[in-house]
Formats: sequence, C-alpha cells, structure tokens
Amino acid sequence: MAYSSIDLSCGDGIATLTFNRPKALNALNTILLEEFTDALNSIKNDESIRVLILTGAGEKAFVAGADITEIATLNPLGAKKFAQNGQDIINTLQELAIPVIAAVNGYALGGGCEMALACDFIYASEKAVFGLPEITLGVIPGFGGTQRLPRLIGANRAKEMIFTGKHLTAADAKETGLVNKIFAPEELLPAVQEVAKLIATKGKASLCAAKQTISQGLNADLATGLGIERDAFALCLASPDAKEGTGAFLEKRKPVFTGGLNS
Ligand code: CAA
Repeated sequence: MAYSSIDLSCGDGIATLTFNRPKALNALNTILLEEFTDALNSIKNDESIRVLILTGAGEKAFVAGADITEIATLNPLGAKKFAQNGQDIINTLQELAIPVIAAVNGYALGGGCEMALACDFIYASEKAVFGLPEITLGVIPGFGGTQRLPRLIGANRAKEMIFTGKHLTAADAKETGLVNKIFAPEELLPAVQEVAKLIATKGKASLCAAKQTISQGLNADLATGLGIERDAFALCLASPDAKEGTGAFLEKRKPVFTGGLNS
C-alpha cells in the first residue's frame, strides 16, 4: 500500500512511523487511520523489527486529535462505529509484541494523546503539549483516553485533565508521570533513536516476553502476575537468545542476539 498520510521507514531492527499530515497538524482522518493499520500489520509481520518509534511530521504536532471535520458529520450510531474503529486500531498498537516509543514533538491532543498513551513510554520535546480537550467540543475522549489515562496517572489527575480539557506543558506532563524524559526539540529524535538502538540490541524473544508479562500482570493480582512471570522466564530460558546471553557473560564477551520469536 502506498502511503500519503504516514511515512514508514525500517532499518537496523527499528521501524519509525511518522504521522504525516502537517497542514492539519497530523489529525487522524479515515485515510491516515487506514494507512496506520496497514503499517502496523506490516510491522507485526516483520520478524526483523524489534522496536517501533511513533512521531509526527512538521514542527507543531505529534497528532492534534481525531479529524474534527469528520467527527462533526457523525450521527450517534456513526459515532459509536467511529470510536470502535479508533479503539480497535489503538488496541492493535498497544498489543504489538515489540516495544513502542512515542516521540512527542508537539501537540498530542485528543486521539493523538490517546495514541501516545498506548505506547510503552513517551519521550517529549520541550514544545510538546498534551491534553484531552474533547469536553470543549461537547464530547468525551473516544479512543481510550477515559480508560488509559487514569490507569497511567491516577483517576484524580485524569479527571482534572478530562473535565477541564486543559493542555499540559511537557514539564507538567513529566511531573504527572505521563512522560519519561524531555528534550530540546532538535534532540528529541536522536535521543529516542539512541534508546531504540539500545533496545534493538536485546533479544526479541525476551523483549516481547518482558512487554507481555508487564501488560498482562498489570491487569491481574500480584500472585497471578508472578505466575505469568515465572512461565515467561522459563520460556525465555529455553530460547537461543538465553543460550547466547548467558554464554556471552560466561565467556566475557558481548552477546549478539539473533533469535526471533519463532526460532
Ligand atoms: N482536526 C482537524 N483539523 C485540525 C485539527 C483536528 N483535530 N487540529 C488542527 N487542525 C487543522 C486546523 O483546522 C487548521 O486547518 P486550516 O489551516 O485549514 O484552518 C490547521 O490544522 C492548523 O491548526 P490551527 O490553525 O488551529 O493551529 P493553531 O496553532 O492556532 O492551534 C491547536 C493549534 C491548539 C492544536 C488547535 O488546532 C486545536 O485546538 N486543534 C484541535 C484539538 C482538538 O480538539 N483535538 C481533539 C479532537 S477530538 C478527538 O480526538 C476525539 C477522540 O477522542 C478520538
């Protein structure tokens, strides 16, 4: 599929997906969401990719939300389908087996903030702005924001953001636990690439096991989570990567992980 509203580049185990409608601040319209879905599927099927970076084209925005010109025409039934579709796509993003890093370079509002919330962690530019301003449009977040934001930063802080629709600066977002690190605008992508490179040197089987264990454990009680961890640990130990990692340590050399999930 040829893309007009996103860019996808892959190399050295890292995929970079850029939302690319800068004139509309990368707002999520139907075409962009279709292309995004196609790109996620190709990333899912590419054994060589170990990390995904999401970012936005242009100087101003990561993603300024769902496309309001499309929302404005929906009736309630259409709105339900629209939200279902957006939630399904963002679930697919969250459920990718590999780590996903959001490089938030500007506005991450509404659906854009919801997209970032489904990533494994967020690095942001000093110019980034976060918010769920849907209340200002007379609606509420529809792509998972009412569910993921309170789970990440706590119900009280999420309610304040959603009830007021106020924007958060990058510094506020870091203080509230939404963002891991902040960088000068020109340093953001190099910093994200550096951490992605480090992650890409690790074994894919153990990266995916770590992600899946954390995600499943967060939705379970501690004893169940620890059981999931034990099983995943045992499965990892049976992988070629574990042989390489432990062998390299004992031989006092750097490990080179080549084992994919199916090897
Ligand atoms: N949908 C469609 N177009 C959008 C858009 C969006 N979400 N956000 C920005 N644009 C368009 C503007 O209409 C404008 O287009 P024109 O040049 O053709 O007029 C262009 O992008 C540039 O935007 P502005 O001129 O408004 O730029 P600004 O710097 O003055 O303001 C902004 C930037 C504060 C981000 C402002 O554009 C804004 O508030 N955007 C809307 C943010 C928003 O409400 N997002 C939530 C959407 S609803 C949603 O996401 C529901 C959900 O949960 C799925």
